[in-house]
Amino acid sequence: VKNIVVLGSTGSIGRNTLDVIERLGEDYNVVALAAKTNIDLLVEQTNKFRPSRIVLVNAAHPEALRNRLNDSTVEIFTDENALVSLACGEDVDLVVNALVGAIGLRSTLEALAAGKVVAVANKESIVMAGNLVMEAVANSDGLLIPIDSEHSAVLQCLRGESPHEVKHLILTASGGPFLKRPADEFSTITAKEALLHPNWQMGPKITIDSATLMNKGLEVIEAHYLFNLEPEKIKIVIHPQSVVHSFVEFVDGSIKAQLSLPDMRIPIQYAITYPDRLPADYILTDLNRIASLTFEPPDFNRFPCLGLAYDALSRGEGYPTVLNAANEIAVEAFLNGTLSFLQIPELITVSMNEYHPSGRLDLKGILEIDEKTRIWCRNQLKGYPRE
Ligand SMILES: NC(=O)c1ccc[n+]([C@@H]2O[C@H](COP(=O)([O-])OP(=O)(O)OC[C@H]3O[C@@H](n4cnc5c(N)ncnc54)[C@H](OP(=O)(O)O)[C@@H]3O)[C@@H](O)[C@H]2O)c1
Repeated sequence: VKNIVVLGSTGSIGRNTLDVIERLGEDYNVVALAAKTNIDLLVEQTNKFRPSRIVLVNAAHPEALRNRLNDSTVEIFTDENALVSLACGEDVDLVVNALVGAIGLRSTLEALAAGKVVAVANKESIVMAGNLVMEAVANSDGLLIPIDSEHSAVLQCLRGESPHEVKHLILTASGGPFLKRPADEFSTITAKEALLHPNWQMGPKITIDSATLMNKGLEVIEAHYLFNLEPEKIKIVIHPQSVVHSFVEFVDGSIKAQLSLPDMRIPIQYAITYPDRLPADYILTDLNRIASLTFEPPDFNRFPCLGLAYDALSRGEGYPTVLNAANEIAVEAFLNGTLSFLQIPELITVSMNEYHPSGRLDLKGILEIDEKTRIWCRNQLKGYPRE
């Protein structure tokens, strides 16, 4: 039996993860769940999956939560530190990190250090501290398996291959809702429009990242760390159907791809059962019904977040941490109406220009850069009334 912790169980990836676990059957057991605001869903999940402990971060009235649970022995935590201790529990085999944002970093690092398998959807933790995360993998018995469909595709394409025979990784991007929108109409984009992704149902932060294409930029950085490849070897292709989840091109000119309908339960299940493949016959990719698969180059001018991500990656020295923190603040500000769509890359650009690397890039140093960037951005936002 695999004992699993799901951090961020009430989110899009968290809900899909529990669906996968339920379908996998009794060999997969939920021992802990964590969420932040969605008390109703956490109660429902707890009563259904019967974990022994749960976290509801910052819950004002945990006793109200207790009264709604069928099992009175469930331990309830409200402190953010509990995310880490839950992930490191002695009985835990696998942690699904489906938290959104930098909050996921410590859980990823400490679960790896404790020798757990970490199935990571929380790409922000890899972007902001990729070296630390990969050091934690190298220095422990822990294993890191990506849930992002692109990186899951790359992992699957690389099975049985030698890393030195890889020429390029080619990450596919749907292009988001504004793929065909002319640049001179970007100033009028609203949060409501940006939240309508053509292919994927996801949480609000990643949906906005997909509209700016920052999501693909973050994935380039994630791929660099996960697969230890130079930025020049990681390319992006726009593929609006989201059926090919990524390609690996080899030195002899062969290209491998992984395909399936866009459904996150496939990469989630692969991460949970890795290295095995178990049946999942509820997702059927019928190639006869897929009319066409198309590919085109990304437009770095209309989507400047792509270039910012490559720039942060090639500069290193804490720039990806700055990029990630500034992006989190910019997306939050766009969603609450403080920033316009075009001002998202502007805020990230000025944050990166303002940053000057100094000091060590250990955990303390990374968290300081993250914190300073957030404070600096919040101050900047005082001068950013929405036009
Ligand atoms: N959605 C996708 O298809 C997809 C695909 C690839 C990668 N990812 C990545 O997966 C991660 C999660 O994405 P998502 O779309 O599932 O996001 P989401 O729907 O917004 O879910 C985020 C989850 O994290 C919880 N959470 C947020 N802040 C927390 C905190 N401080 N303490 C404890 N829990 C907290 C939320 O709890 P409440 O809901 O209770 O507030 C929720 O359960 C992101 O890094 C994203 O980039 C997502």
